[in-house]
Amino acid sequence: MRRRLLIFLLINLLILILLLRSVSTLLSLLVEDAGADAIHRAEFSSPNSSLIEERPQIIPKIIHQTYKNETIPEVWVDAQQSCIYMHPDYEYILWTNEKSRDFIAAQYPWFLKTFDGYKYPIQRADSIRYFLLAHYGGTYIDLDDGCNRRLDPLLAYPAWVRRTVPTGISNDAMGSVPQHPFFLRVIELLQQYDQHWLLPYITVMYSTGPLFLSVIWKEYIKDYPSEMSRVRILMQDEYMKYSWSFFIHHTGNSWHGKDAYFIFWMGQHWIFLTFCGFLLAAVFGFCLFWTYGRIVLLGAQYRYRYTEVPSIISAPRLSSSPSRHARRLMPTLLRRISFQGDEATDTSCELGRRED
Ligand SMILES: *[C@@H]1O[C@H](CO)[C@@H](O)[C@H](O)[C@H]1NC(C)=O
Ligand SMILES: *[C@@H]1O[C@H](CO)[C@@H](O)[C@H](O)[C@H]1NC(C)=O
Repeated sequence: MRRRLLIFLLINLLILILLLRSVSTLLSLLVEDAGADAIHRAEFSSPNSSLIEERPQIIPKIIHQTYKNETIPEVWVDAQQSCIYMHPDYEYILWTNEKSRDFIAAQYPWFLKTFDGYKYPIQRADSIRYFLLAHYGGTYIDLDDGCNRRLDPLLAYPAWVRRTVPTGISNDAMGSVPQHPFFLRVIELLQQYDQHWLLPYITVMYSTGPLFLSVIWKEYIKDYPSEMSRVRILMQDEYMKYSWSFFIHHTGNSWHGKDAYFIFWMGQHWIFLTFCGFLLAAVFGFCLFWTYGRIVLLGAQYRYRYTEVPSIISAPRLSSSPSRHARRLMPTLLRRISFQGDEATDTSCELGRRED
């Protein structure tokens, strides 16, 4: 009885450890503040400063943006123009669906099957930006992010991504030198993460989107070997909102459709939803354990009831083992105490007999 309980507990513990291990990166993301790699405002001059940016600019002066075709919707034209206007000396490339596919087919043919196989267009839009940064380097900016100032100070870091609140990083604005180890790892892992997760939103988030990127990033920062492979983090205040921030939202949101609000809600509460998932799993596990416990207990009570009042006539017939035979003569109080040892005694007898 006790041995079975122990086995049950051990199996549960093992499952729990495996589960925790598989989501440990997700869990550790919750407490990661990215402070160690944050880009501090003191590192670059203010927007209107006459100070010349002195640090070498290592990220190529290229701005990448993506849209399905050349016709950018009215709502994003201002944002797009603000970046182009502010960076006349940068190369600007708008990657349409057709251009993106041609690029993958020509440069990364091993990925083409996955790229074409993505169920949601946003997955292609997500993945292409990692390939572009890994290949050409430069700065990727989402179409709804306008530029609030020149991006030059950000070109001094080998790679940067932006922090999202409450946790993790996002992929809507990123910069990198070509062949940066972080983005090389990202494109290498895309196929492995191409899984379906029941809900479209979670599938997109975890196969190519910000959650995917955050998990890889969290694993990556454990052991980057050199300063050149470091990924710096653009914090909230430097990203948007203030006069010194690099970007500005020109329009509302980029999601259209009836479920936009639900998706937004889920996006903003994904920690809460993850927590709910764990809670549910914990409650389920506890119920399972409780049920198992009841069954074990009932079984024990059942056996106890039938051994509690030994019948002088039936006892010798019920059990031929000498220990039970002797126990018949013990006072009831002693029997109660020694009851718990029953199983062990019986088992060792059985084992002993089997060896004969
Ligand atoms: C920089 O100059 C522009 C125009 O002169 C002004 O609107 C903006 O507020 C200034 N920014 C800062 C941080 O002083
Ligand atoms: C681009 O896509 C939009 C929306 O589907 C469509 O209205 C427009 O005609 C397309 N433009 C070109 C040049 O194909």
